[in-house]
Amino acid sequence: MRDIAVIGIGMMKWGELWEKSIRDLAVEASLNCLADAGIDRVDTISIGCMSGGIFNGQEHLASMIPDYLGMKNTPAMRVESACASGGLAVRTAFLEIASGMSDYALAVGVEKMTDVSGGEATDGLATAADQDYEAFNGINFPGLYALMAKAHMHRYGTTREQMADVAVKNHRNGNLNPLAQFPGLMTREQVMNSVMVADPLRLMDCSPITDGAAAVLLTTVEEAKRLKKHPLVVISGIGLASDTIQLCQRKDILKCPAIELAGQKALKMAGKTIRDINFAEIHDCFTISEIMIMEELGIVERGQGGPATSAGHTALDGKFPINTSGGLKSKGHPVGATGVAQIYEVVTQLRGTAGKRQLKNAKVGMTQNMGGSGGSCVIHILEAKS
Ligand code: COA
Repeated sequence: MRDIAVIGIGMMKWGELWEKSIRDLAVEASLNCLADAGIDRVDTISIGCMSGGIFNGQEHLASMIPDYLGMKNTPAMRVESACASGGLAVRTAFLEIASGMSDYALAVGVEKMTDVSGGEATDGLATAADQDYEAFNGINFPGLYALMAKAHMHRYGTTREQMADVAVKNHRNGNLNPLAQFPGLMTREQVMNSVMVADPLRLMDCSPITDGAAAVLLTTVEEAKRLKKHPLVVISGIGLASDTIQLCQRKDILKCPAIELAGQKALKMAGKTIRDINFAEIHDCFTISEIMIMEELGIVERGQGGPATSAGHTALDGKFPINTSGGLKSKGHPVGATGVAQIYEVVTQLRGTAGKRQLKNAKVGMTQNMGGSGGSCVIHILEAKS
């Protein structure tokens, strides 16, 4: 297997982008990425998108995106694993290069969610839950994560304040990210007094509905060293795992084996333990998710995600910074783009170009991107190399 480097990254400011279509978003992120890499040759394109059909009435992105990118006839595929579609697109690009099938692989994640009403977006997202046994009975993602939050509060004593502190910290980071959808600062009281969505989760506990795209360009480490355009960033570990689509089929509502297994695989491949990781972008689709994922990855002991957050351990100047970009909460969550944008942030930190949110000692970073209530999970480990 060949060693892989990230040589280009591209994004745009996320938000409610009425003036841009799904194709505009994917093309803009891709062109920004190719310009960043200084490359105009791509051997393959993998596109992460959850629901172009539902949100925009547009499928067949594997034809449309290369065409509008000026790269028609390039081998392309669209991959889907709900909110983990972006991470899966990066993994697909990785395999293309690692196997020797391609030398330059572009991974682009895209979702344009505001073409439909808020209710339709919620219903569209709920197609990633079990239609027959969950959605049919009226439960959607805010509801599923609310069940987990209630159970976490009951078992570990996690408090409303601790969950609010996840949002406060992520908005503080997003405030330093010019590409974030909601960069406004947030107080604990504002989060706790925002409108109720699904008890105990309020509006400011939820990731928003977002339009956006992100792209990364991969090649071999050998080729990256030859090009020398940016400090070298390699992908040293990848883990992918799946689990039951239904939350109620899990042995324990507070355990998410897909995250644990994907994490173990990625760490083993990179020859590391979680203690070797300096920082991470994780899938905070709801404030409780960030707390549960930190615990599942072993960043903290079970039950300690809330206290660690409130103690500042996951802040920019904490022991283990999480979601330096602002995370899904503040940067936004255009579902198919999120996993690619997580790589964008980790590469930005490892290159030392994150501006006011730059970490002092960023050498090894992790991304954790998951689908639904944890039915799928993709984890990447990236390292700065000299
Ligand atoms: N910071 C600041 N303002 C925010 C915000 C944030 N993080 N999130 C939303 N807002 C604002 C919106 O701009 C809007 O303001 P406006 O009324 O002035 O336009 C207001 O809050 C309401 O937001 P809106 O998106 O219109 O609310 P909604 O009722 O349509 O949807 C949710 C709210 C929580 C139901 C929806 O955002 C949601 O479903 N989120 C979860 C997404 C999800 O499940 N993703 C997949 C996870 S696996």
